[in-house]
Amino acid sequence: MEYVIVDDQVMDRSTAKVDIEDRGYQFGDGVYEVIRVYNGKMFTGKEHLKRLVESAEKIRMKLPYSPEELEGKMEELIAKNELQTGTVYMQFTRGTSPRNHVFPGNGVAPTFVAYTRNVARPEESMEKGVRAILDEDIRWLRCDIKSLNLLGNLLSKQKAAEAGCFEAILHRGETVTEGSHSNISIIKDGVIITHPADNHILNGITRQKVLEICGKEQIAFEERAYTVEELNAADEVFSSGTTVEVMPVVEIEGKPVGNGEPGTVTRNLQKLFKAEIESQCGKI
Ligand SMILES: Cc1ncc(COP(=O)(O)O)c(C=O)c1O
Repeated sequence: MEYVIVDDQVMDRSTAKVDIEDRGYQFGDGVYEVIRVYNGKMFTGKEHLKRLVESAEKIRMKLPYSPEELEGKMEELIAKNELQTGTVYMQFTRGTSPRNHVFPGNGVAPTFVAYTRNVARPEESMEKGVRAILDEDIRWLRCDIKSLNLLGNLLSKQKAAEAGCFEAILHRGETVTEGSHSNISIIKDGVIITHPADNHILNGITRQKVLEICGKEQIAFEERAYTVEELNAADEVFSSGTTVEVMPVVEIEGKPVGNGEPGTVTRNLQKLFKAEIESQCGKI
């Protein structure tokens, strides 16, 4: 049996139901999180739950549970589903009410849904690296919110998939922002350069962890906007995200990045990131 959570109930997935006038379904009016699980333990769970609360605040939604309560619920779900390596997904919408753009008011409680999934570490891709396309970033100007509205991301990711690529690297005019479902960083002369955490990108928890590791290990980094030209001239490029960890990008628009193989700085970050996971969740 696969267990899921709907509001305050843990139930069999086949019995789970959400109303057709749920605002998530009709407007994408809600926020979500995805947390990595290794050895049955959440990795950077607290950081993800903090971001969930912040995303909710930014769309003026009050969550019915504290981060601590949510952590407990996720632990229960992981245990019930006997999840070892995978992800836990959770979302809150602004609840169910007759369709109206105006918020329904405090009498309507948010709808909460959570489930788990088995997801292996993408070891082969992490070893060999992946390919990417470039695409114009057509999304709204609050990409810092982890909102359910993902159409801009989906259109770009679909383009990438149709080109046989893992990711679409997005740019607003000349400025590279992030990927359709990950953050993108470049390496030039040993320095890691990544877009600052403003309204143009989602401030990835993996991105934050990587920068924290850089600080600890005295690896040089800059948080600044960089251009498509700098991307094309980079020695190394990597994508970072909850399910993909640190993923080398070895080809962009059919042209090799550096010598077309994962570079030494990215390899080192992968090693350090794995050590960080193991320090929290045990051997992987
Ligand atoms: C648009 C976008 N940027 C960045 C990320 C990476 O964020 P995190 O490292 O928290 O998974 C994601 C992850 O889903 C994403 O969808």
